[in-house]
Amino acid sequence: MGTKLIIDTDPGVDDAFAIALAALSEDVDLLAVTTVYGNVALADTTRNAQRLLALCKRDDVPVAAGASRPLVHPQAHRASRIHGPDGLSGRSDILPEPARELVSGGAVALLASVLEAADEPVTIAPIGPLTNIAALLAAHPGIGEKIARVVIMGGALAHGNTTAAAEFNIWSDPEAAQRVLAGGEVHCVLVPLDLTHRCAIDAAWLAQLAASGPIGAALDALTPDYRAHYRTVLGYDGMMVHDAVAVAEAIRPGILRTEAVPVQVECSYGPARGATLADLRSPGQRAGDAHPEAVLTDVAVDTELAELQTFLLERLTGTPR
Ligand code: BDR
Ligand code: CA
Repeated sequence: MGTKLIIDTDPGVDDAFAIALAALSEDVDLLAVTTVYGNVALADTTRNAQRLLALCKRDDVPVAAGASRPLVHPQAHRASRIHGPDGLSGRSDILPEPARELVSGGAVALLASVLEAADEPVTIAPIGPLTNIAALLAAHPGIGEKIARVVIMGGALAHGNTTAAAEFNIWSDPEAAQRVLAGGEVHCVLVPLDLTHRCAIDAAWLAQLAASGPIGAALDALTPDYRAHYRTVLGYDGMMVHDAVAVAEAIRPGILRTEAVPVQVECSYGPARGATLADLRSPGQRAGDAHPEAVLTDVAVDTELAELQTFLLERLTGTPR
């Protein structure tokens, strides 16, 4: 019945596209959506996730709220300057009201129960700070056996977006990211900014989405604040769909090309806090290290851009594939 998937998310405009991508894909068995603070506060990210599933007529998907702050160091910075005051360009009210109550007990409990009940390993796509996933691994030793892959949108090899060194999701909770990426409990795929920046979509792509029907029109209507921000970053009318790129890999394994390298997260309180240090040396060069047995992460480094953009548009517009 297709890829079994859980999305952990902080919607967020690009999260909205990622949730819709999974929710509208017939070959995806979307088992749950869990929420985390991040782009905006937890109450907003949770309500946004519920309403996005209602838009996609996926009230069968359980939603639970997770962490409202990072594991160790409080961090008050949110990304409402980019995603708008409610996380969806101030337009979340255009979405339908949730038709289903939140699952009580919280995100970690829902993640654990869905994973335990699954008859095959499940893919998790964390597209916000990694706090819930680190808490899951800490609270449920051995749960990694129930997880096929953790496909993470996060990190930056060349430069960050929140600081010179760090990408937003990893910078928001570096200790959690280090536990997930370097803890050795789960097979991780990291989809960093270096690749997602190359996968930006343009005004013509968005116009096709908007013209495709009520769901496409609603998704497009959530973009104005976000698109205005990225117009200045990109220098043309378009926007990044970071989280949708990661979910594309989660549901179509191999659509991104990856390289297996050790990745460590900088957790000090200096200017590099939240940086993802990928060891791009050859295995031979690494062999002389004190700890050559480092955990490997599959870092996404390339894709066929046109194919990816077409895949995203076809899935979001419901056109034949
Ligand atoms: C990531 O940060 C958030 O603002 C986006 O939703 C995405 O998950 C990009 O750095
Ligand atoms: Ca996100």
